[in-house]
Amino acid sequence: MKIARTIAEMKEMRQQLTGTVGFVPTMGYLHEGHTTLVRVARSENDAAVVSIFVNPTQFGPKEDFAKYPRDTERDLAMLEKVKTDIVFMPEVTDMYPATFNSWVVLEGITGKLEGASRPGHFKGVTTVVAKLFNITEPTRAYFGQKDAQQLLVIRKMVADLNMNLDVITVPTVREPDGLAMSSRNVYLNPVERQGALVLWKSLQLAQKLWDSGERDGEQIRSQMIGFIQNEPLAQIDYISVADTESLEELKKLAQPPLVSLAVRFGKTRLIDNKILEGPA
Ligand code: PAJ
Repeated sequence: MKIARTIAEMKEMRQQLTGTVGFVPTMGYLHEGHTTLVRVARSENDAAVVSIFVNPTQFGPKEDFAKYPRDTERDLAMLEKVKTDIVFMPEVTDMYPATFNSWVVLEGITGKLEGASRPGHFKGVTTVVAKLFNITEPTRAYFGQKDAQQLLVIRKMVADLNMNLDVITVPTVREPDGLAMSSRNVYLNPVERQGALVLWKSLQLAQKLWDSGERDGEQIRSQMIGFIQNEPLAQIDYISVADTESLEELKKLAQPPLVSLAVRFGKTRLIDNKILEGPA
């Protein structure tokens, strides 16, 4: 496993690769969700490239950029195990020198859900992912369903800007009790960790309602709200029952919707989602 610590080193190592390249962008503090993406990338390509970069431009001024968890040594050991070929870990000043002045901005769906709660977040995501794609020149790039809106945003950017790569979706990896794996789960104290199960349970409730024939989006939303409000530590940021492409909130459900939510436990904000399954 090679480590590129600068953009110049990464570009040089990229030149040495022949065949297809699977790329997995991450912010580090890796867990089984991330390593699953790398395994899939490794199995579908001749080489796997992983980036670790806590991207300052996608964090709001009041968010956790400074205290975002970091453990490079552990990350590198995990990446070695899943047979990563190259790890790209640039410095912030290399990615964003003082003269940096270009942004990739996607309109429309970035104003909803995460974008509404975190203004500017997706401008930072699209800009850094576009830069990472230009630096690593992947054949395929791998993203988790865990961040459903991010996935839609990246797919749209790649299509709109005619980027020459395929975007591959990897299903959400969960803890045995259903909590979606997340680098931010370490912030939860044991009581919050237990309470956080309401995210997955409320998504399962949405699926049950769908299975029993409920086709009113408002009904599904309000039942989920009621369920989550029974957990004293949970503070709802949003609950959404939306079209899987446009992210428009739906009343009448003609197709299985994307159900997504953001819930706070103390200072920790968790997100999860499920595209409901079954016939319309
Ligand atoms: P990060 O949160 O580190 O996530 C990196 C990738 O891992 C994303 O594609 C995310 O959807 C995926 N992932 C996280 N938890 C997962 C889980 N439980 N199951 C499956 N996949 C999971 O997302 C980012 O970083 C950043 O926004 C980034 C794209 C790297 C740009 O800075």
